[in-house]
Amino acid sequence: MAFRMTTERLILEDLTKEDLSNIQKIARDPELMRYVLIWLENDEQISAFLKRAIEESKLADRMGYILAARVAGTGEFAGLTFLEIDPELKSTGEVGIVLLPEYQASGYGREILLKYIEFGFDTLSLHRVFGKCDNLNSASARLMEQCGLIYEGTIREHVWLRDHWRSTRYYGMLAEEYTALNP
Ligand SMILES: CC(C)(COP(=O)(O)OP(=O)(O)OC[C@H]1O[C@@H](n2cnc3c(N)ncnc32)[C@H](O)[C@@H]1OP(=O)(O)O)[C@@H](O)C(=O)NCCC(=O)NCCS
Repeated sequence: MAFRMTTERLILEDLTKEDLSNIQKIARDPELMRYVLIWLENDEQISAFLKRAIEESKLADRMGYILAARVAGTGEFAGLTFLEIDPELKSTGEVGIVLLPEYQASGYGREILLKYIEFGFDTLSLHRVFGKCDNLNSASARLMEQCGLIYEGTIREHVWLRDHWRSTRYYGMLAEEYTALNP
């Protein structure tokens, strides 16, 4: 059965084959993808990404939740979100969000990140949930700080991301910190 969870205004649910055009819309917007460290550079990579997400969603012991964010009520596709459990360190999960421009800066990112944090600790019993962002991506850094993730450090210029050397900031929350924030 397809996985689904809800926030105040959104539904987060498994991607389907019908989401191909939605992912293409994200992937083909260079401004949107500027700071996103996911390789969706051509149709082959986009199809492979969607195939992997759908295959992962069918596994009994799934490690990845690559979910569409859809507006509750209308079902409009607002963006791509994920929580991926590190297969080696099964206690750690990474969260990421990419919203279409028309859905940015309206508090959706906050709703999604708080939901994934809750899901990661309450349902998956993770020990650490983290997010990472380009050093130049102030919206993403602000969002993670606002949701209570703590800045852990920066890896400097470790990857060439389309047009610049990307430095990556890491933000994390530990289970005990989550419990302290949500007694
Ligand atoms: C980064 C992103 C997920 C944030 O989600 P969002 O829904 O736009 O953010 P929210 O509306 O929940 O706002 C969260 C905080 O970020 C701030 N913020 C949002 N957009 C911003 C922007 N363009 N510049 C600076 N700060 C911004 C908000 O002001 C808010 O902080 P505040 O309450 O102190 O004002 C979203 O903008 C996005 O998808 N961007 C493009 C893709 C991307 O870079 N994803 C992250 C990859 S690591």
